[in-house]
Amino acid sequence: METSHTQVVIIGAGPAGLLLGQLLLKQGIDHVIVELRSADYVRSRVRAGVLEEPTVRALEEAGVSERMERESLPMSGFDLMWEDRALHIDFALVNKITRVYGQTKITRDLMDARNTRGGITHYEVSDTQVHDFDTARPWVTYEKDGKRYRIDCDFIAGCDGHHGVSRKSVPREQVQTYKYAFPFGWLAILADVPPISEQVAWINHIDGFLMCSLRSKTRSRYYFQVPEGEELKHWDADRFWAEYRRRLPESLAHKLVAGPALEMSITPLRSSVSAPMRFGRMFLAGDAAHIVPPTGAKGLNMAVADARRLYLGLRQYYAGGHDLGLLDSYSDDSLARVWKAVRFSWWMTNLTHRFSDNPFNRQMQLAELEYISQSVAAQTTIAENFCGLN
Ligand code: APR
Repeated sequence: METSHTQVVIIGAGPAGLLLGQLLLKQGIDHVIVELRSADYVRSRVRAGVLEEPTVRALEEAGVSERMERESLPMSGFDLMWEDRALHIDFALVNKITRVYGQTKITRDLMDARNTRGGITHYEVSDTQVHDFDTARPWVTYEKDGKRYRIDCDFIAGCDGHHGVSRKSVPREQVQTYKYAFPFGWLAILADVPPISEQVAWINHIDGFLMCSLRSKTRSRYYFQVPEGEELKHWDADRFWAEYRRRLPESLAHKLVAGPALEMSITPLRSSVSAPMRFGRMFLAGDAAHIVPPTGAKGLNMAVADARRLYLGLRQYYAGGHDLGLLDSYSDDSLARVWKAVRFSWWMTNLTHRFSDNPFNRQMQLAELEYISQSVAAQTTIAENFCGLN
């Protein structure tokens, strides 16, 4: 087995792993990323697209914000719609904005910057294993092209997503996982058609939630609620557009431009939080530790916030004195932020989705929407949560 040594091994080249790697590169902290998939696969994965202010700042800090500044669209609020009503939630209430910029672009920016700086990433590895993370000398092994490798390190960053190996390697009794599955999912389409509106709209329809979102002035991302267990094979673009148009409020339906699907997918709506996020010298970041339904656009932002917090801890440790202060508080500090984002995603899902045939539930939603429309305090709360809490 070929053996090498580095300071930090990062498992996973998603947004959390790539951002952590970029911040470490800038700081001159030696590290290696190992990734299950190919670079092309990682680069083309279509997912989130709304960036909170702290995410924008983290990308600036990592030196990968140039294209984002040029190509992202500012998002100064969003529309909440139900029946024939529309309410604009204005982020000016909290003096903040968010930005719309597709995750594929962030991934590409981070990968390009990593290549330029000569960061080491081993793609298409298999059988990644973490060892001795409860000691001062952890190590990671993996296989590539039929050969086995070992990397000794000071720390392991588990940025390997919800199905990754790092969390699963922790003895069961040391980790508590809190799970909640909503009884529905989202059917999504990505298409090169002009968006209905530059405002993202969240729409509570009696037959189920729908959302109008966008990736640019020419690329739209639309979703609607489908029952649990719905299969993608029953949907093509034509059927998607017909159902989407049917649920849209009249004020938007006439603006809808349909087109071929670049991508269609079904996402189950689930929350899961694992605590703690630190096990000796192994730290979990991003989806490896928590997932949320996409309703609040929090997943990517949470992954970025974790990666930055972990970076600050590692920076402090390597600043000279091997100070573990920030690494010791990483889990508690991250979880405090995580739970607030999980709560907001859960609450927005409750407000906007069809949960049952019981008309009482719908009346509760309508009463809450009515209240929000009359209360600046309630709108401020939504804006504050959407733009990102610390
Ligand atoms: N070994 C190496 N790499 C692995 C392994 C493994 N055993 N298991 C998974 N990976 C890789 C995956 O292939 C993936 O590229 O880890 C990466 C994890 O990336 P993500 O799943 O994107 O997770 P994260 O970086 O935390 O970002 C999560 O971004 O896409 C948004 O909203 C989305 O919440 C999500 C957030």
